[in-house]
Amino acid sequence: MNSVFRLTNVLDKEILQELINDFQENCTNTYPGRRFNVDINYAVKLLNPILKYSLPKNWIVDGGNYFETVVPYRLHCDTGKDRTKKLYYNIVIPLKLWYEDYNPNLNKLIITDQIWNGDAAFFVKGDNALPEYNICITDYEQVENKIEGIDNTLLELCTHLNPRNLEGFSIKKVIDWVPGDIIFFRRHYIHTTSNWRSAGVSQKLGLSLFTSLQ
Ligand SMILES: [Fe+2]
Repeated sequence: MNSVFRLTNVLDKEILQELINDFQENCTNTYPGRRFNVDINYAVKLLNPILKYSLPKNWIVDGGNYFETVVPYRLHCDTGKDRTKKLYYNIVIPLKLWYEDYNPNLNKLIITDQIWNGDAAFFVKGDNALPEYNICITDYEQVENKIEGIDNTLLELCTHLNPRNLEGFSIKKVIDWVPGDIIFFRRHYIHTTSNWRSAGVSQKLGLSLFTSLQ
């Protein structure tokens, strides 16, 4: 089983629209420029026929949220807060993109080679970032699998980040962010988006589901 993979073109327009409507029903503005909906029950039910054949083993969805944002994300890891869980895959489902003069080469989800076994976190070395649900990690001592220096491609794709955030990080996989696709990757991988604003994208809406083994 690949630790990172993508199913392309598996959700049709009707299912995407149903999920978008579901997001709209209970979404809240938690932070400026970002809206969330943490009620994922309907989405899990709707997607189950596809998801259950995509991941083997006995797994459950134990968290997740819809997210609508006008800002690209930073390096983070969705490991939750319960260290007794057997974390499995993170499932990212792109739902909608708003864009003008679109350059798909700059709209990516980047999975790094680096691994985190602590609580859900942002990796913000060199910044004075505020924690949200995620804690802020500025000392990368506990980040596993670090490299020396900074990966140049990562620097080029992540112009929205302080380059110091990227120290020790390298790229495992760069994935297109396309509505209709479903992206799977192991939950302990630290990941980030590219600076998709430079791709002409002004806003995006997606759904994240976090799975654990039973
Ligand atoms: Fe994430």
